[in-house]
Amino acid sequence: MALNVVIMAAGKGTRMKSALPKVLHRLAGTSLLQHVLNAVAGLGPVRSIVVTGHGAEAVEAEAAASGAVFVRQMPQLGTGHAVMQTLLALDAAHATTLVLNGDVPLIRTDTARALAEACGGTQLALLTIALPDPTGYGRIVRSADHSAVHAIVEHKDANPAQRALNEVYTGMMAAPTALLQRWVSSLKNDNAQREYYLTDIVAMAVAEGVPVVATPAASDTEVLGVNSPLQLADLERRFQRQQAEALLEAGVRLADPARLDVRGQLHCGADVEIDINCIFEGSVMLGDGVRVGAHCVIRNATVAAGAVIHPFTHIEGATVGASAVVGPYARLRPGAELGASVHIGNFVEVKNSSLGAGSKANHLAYLGDAVVGERVNFGAGSITANYDGANKHRTTIADDVHVGSNCVLVAPITLGAGATIGGGSTIAKDAPAGQLTVARARQATLPGWQRPKKAPKA
Ligand code: UD1
Ligand code: CA
Repeated sequence: MALNVVIMAAGKGTRMKSALPKVLHRLAGTSLLQHVLNAVAGLGPVRSIVVTGHGAEAVEAEAAASGAVFVRQMPQLGTGHAVMQTLLALDAAHATTLVLNGDVPLIRTDTARALAEACGGTQLALLTIALPDPTGYGRIVRSADHSAVHAIVEHKDANPAQRALNEVYTGMMAAPTALLQRWVSSLKNDNAQREYYLTDIVAMAVAEGVPVVATPAASDTEVLGVNSPLQLADLERRFQRQQAEALLEAGVRLADPARLDVRGQLHCGADVEIDINCIFEGSVMLGDGVRVGAHCVIRNATVAAGAVIHPFTHIEGATVGASAVVGPYARLRPGAELGASVHIGNFVEVKNSSLGAGSKANHLAYLGDAVVGERVNFGAGSITANYDGANKHRTTIADDVHVGSNCVLVAPITLGAGATIGGGSTIAKDAPAGQLTVARARQATLPGWQRPKKAPKA
């Protein structure tokens, strides 16, 4: 759809009480502005113009990848003044210009498209909604028979009868580009806030006989703005609730939809179960029958069918094989690749290491920069010493190796297939296949030794 899209994002967001520009605050792990840009991306190729002001450099950096162009608004004298800055940047070949708010993150692509279509390059289309408590919003003032929209009156400028109206302007509109350019150029700031109100163009359209249409929003969630931490937290919960309901509808069994946070994309196979207070970030894939215990944090990971993640496990940048068992209290760091039926137990950390099918590290261990074969047993308290203070080195552990408890494997090192490492060993040289290698002081018993006794008091 050929469109200009203006995203207003210059405001300070005073009520956030934060040094961060408002539109950079995050909802479900993604900035408010990026949510809007994502919705716009769904419209297809459009000319997007982001109005920046407060924290302009940081805001422009956030939106740089979107291909939007930026215009700066300094100082910020209202929404009409914000659009004024974009007038030269609008592509006159696009008959419709859509105006969105950088702090209304959950606007849906379909709604934005419907708004632009309602304009169709000829009418002024306003996105509106009826709110039980319209305090603070611009009110939609209609003719006596309620059919035609006459004007938008800002809350601060409204009389008691107007304040009683609960149909409000959501801050989003679509206007014929050439008319918008002319109307916005002639805005005045003679109002309660001494601001240039974009909303004043409604009365201009009415005066010129240009049709003004109100397009209703599908839900209040998609038009709610973020002005304060309370509103941000409220919108976060609404958004998480939506995501949880979509997962439930897809057959995922959530122990409690109110205690789930998805900050990115969570893809689930059939018969997935997720216990309470789990956080999924980035892109996470859970295969058929995966069970995730309570209080897990899983980021950018793939968990294959039938795997069980026990409570309090932390997984980032890792893959977990089919029917593997991980946790409780395990940590998989980037580059951890667990094969089928691998067991990783409590207080085990795995980083940049692969473990072949059926291998186990069940207690208190560290595997870093290691290639571990199949059916290996890595004992409690054993670690790869992969870092010499300057460089990282690899450990190679072939199939069927058994590493006893409390061993230190000083990398670079290779343990041959079927090797056994005696508990308590510090192994600094390669261990041959199929044999027992031990590196620790030999046990001795001293005949006739006696415990020291306290000297008698003088
Ligand atoms: C605006 C509407 C109001 C509507 C409400 C919906 C006007 C005059 N009023 O009011 O009718 O009900 O949105 O939320 O438009 N911004 C700039 N530059 C500025 C001022 C604002 O870029 O000089 C940006 C803000 O960053 C924000 C958006 O415009 O993203 C809306 O500004 P805000 O001050 O929140 O508008 P409201 O007073 O809420
Ligand atoms: Ca304002």
